[in-house]
Amino acid sequence: MLLLLLLLVAAAQAVALAPRRFTPDWQSLDSRPLPSWFDEAKFGVFVHWGVFSVPAWGSEWFWWHWKGDQMPAYQRFMTENYPPGFSYADFAPQFTARFFHPDQWAELFQAAGAKYVVLTTKHHEGFTNWPSPVSWNWNSKDVGPHRDLVGELGAAVRKRKIRYGLYHSLLEWFHPLYLLDKKNGFKTQHFVRAKTMPELYDLVKSYKPDLIWSDGEWECPDTYWNSTSFLAWLYNDSPVKDEVIVNDRWGQNCSCHHGGYYNCQDKYKPQSLPDHKWEMCTSVDRASWGYRRDMTMSTIAKENEIIEELVQTVSLGGNYLLNIGPTKDGLIVPIFQERLLAVGKWLQINGEAIYASKPWRVQSEKNKTVVWYTTKNATVYATFLYWPENGIVNLKSPKTTSATKITMLGLEGDLSWTQDPLEGVLISLPQLPPTVLPVEFAWTLKLTKVN
Ligand SMILES: *[C@@H]1O[C@H](CO)[C@@H](O)[C@H](O)[C@H]1NC(C)=O
Ligand SMILES: *[C@@H]1O[C@H](CO)[C@@H](O)[C@H](O)[C@H]1NC(C)=O
Ligand SMILES: *[C@@H]1O[C@H](CO)[C@@H](O)[C@H](O)[C@H]1NC(C)=O
Ligand SMILES: *[C@@H]1O[C@H](CO)[C@@H](O)[C@H](O)[C@H]1NC(C)=O
Repeated sequence: MLLLLLLLVAAAQAVALAPRRFTPDWQSLDSRPLPSWFDEAKFGVFVHWGVFSVPAWGSEWFWWHWKGDQMPAYQRFMTENYPPGFSYADFAPQFTARFFHPDQWAELFQAAGAKYVVLTTKHHEGFTNWPSPVSWNWNSKDVGPHRDLVGELGAAVRKRKIRYGLYHSLLEWFHPLYLLDKKNGFKTQHFVRAKTMPELYDLVKSYKPDLIWSDGEWECPDTYWNSTSFLAWLYNDSPVKDEVIVNDRWGQNCSCHHGGYYNCQDKYKPQSLPDHKWEMCTSVDRASWGYRRDMTMSTIAKENEIIEELVQTVSLGGNYLLNIGPTKDGLIVPIFQERLLAVGKWLQINGEAIYASKPWRVQSEKNKTVVWYTTKNATVYATFLYWPENGIVNLKSPKTTSATKITMLGLEGDLSWTQDPLEGVLISLPQLPPTVLPVEFAWTLKLTKVN
């Protein structure tokens, strides 16, 4: 009897210790808890770089607008600037990456306060930024840079303890096998077998990504892409099974429903706290993800808009992934550098309220200013966006105690406050000249021992 009991206990332990296996269906895959690093990271930099950085005009959808939906402006751009017969493939040799110094990029991303970086390994044009064995003569080793861009940037960011994510487009606008499958109503999988799957497995095995940012899923169901088989392998048997994170773009109607965290649409910005981990991705150039020479200041996000988005996103439980597009020669233009460094400067002071924080029981309130809350270790952080004219911030939501202390991140000393039965906590801001304030926009109040 005792022996039987011991055997049972041993068997139960073996079951408990055996790593959990996922099956290739959404019910199983969706039940995987997200590795914790992603929620703690909060802020990442997105990089759109490819052959589209050569024409660098309009957006990274250049090839599609030229040859796909044949927009007149793109036709005109080509006839006015390139010789007759010039093809999209002819742009590739000019994608030189001549001045690409991965350590300089990584240094900039670190100074921006980014905890992860996501690079386009292959956009919808199909050009691979690594020596893919199944993308003959349409990869960065054979043509253009003659370098392994994915590998080089990965080494540089990881040296700085920044997590590395790989953007990958499932579809390729003009790949002959994709067009064949499309003609067959996606009843055949020639493209998936010859291109998508070999490359996804190759990316994981070669670069061991912390994150796979999938895209280009929308024309076909996930059964065409074989997404669930790939994800089951990724979670069960891949070299990154314990730490890897994926998004939600794995087939028609998956977005916002299945996968790891949710991107939903590009630039998705929920108005209340979602019940699933999410990420807002957006671009410093509001009109393009790739670098474009026709960019003007009118579409560049302002510093305070970016900080506000970051603060709002984190209060609502999201991560903020901010995009820049390098030039064809591997330079990040100063306006992008400036915006990234502004985020880093703000996070230097206020990062305590952002990194590894959690949403609080109240997300925001608005009176003379807009306030966004986060919490960490029983401390409540209230970031207010505008400095109230009367120098008093009133917060309705926190309930003070006799032990409550209130400070401002980046300033020495406690702030004085009173609790008003109707108006909440009234906090007197210090009267300081602008040069002494820790930041120019969005100041964070730290409240301890409040309920
Ligand atoms: C899809 O996954 C199944 C199961 O793993 C496999 O048998 C099949 O060959 C895969 N198809 C493609 C096109 O990768
Ligand atoms: C996705 O949703 C649309 C609209 O509801 C529907 O027409 C389509 O069949 C769905 N596709 C799949 C693969 O479920
Ligand atoms: C806004 O704050 C003032 C005090 O500064 C207070 O009198 C007023 O009731 C508040 N309004 C709301 C809607 O909370
Ligand atoms: C917050 O709590 C975590 C663990 O819960 C601990 O490692 C960390 O040091 C704490 N931070 C502060 C500032 O107290």
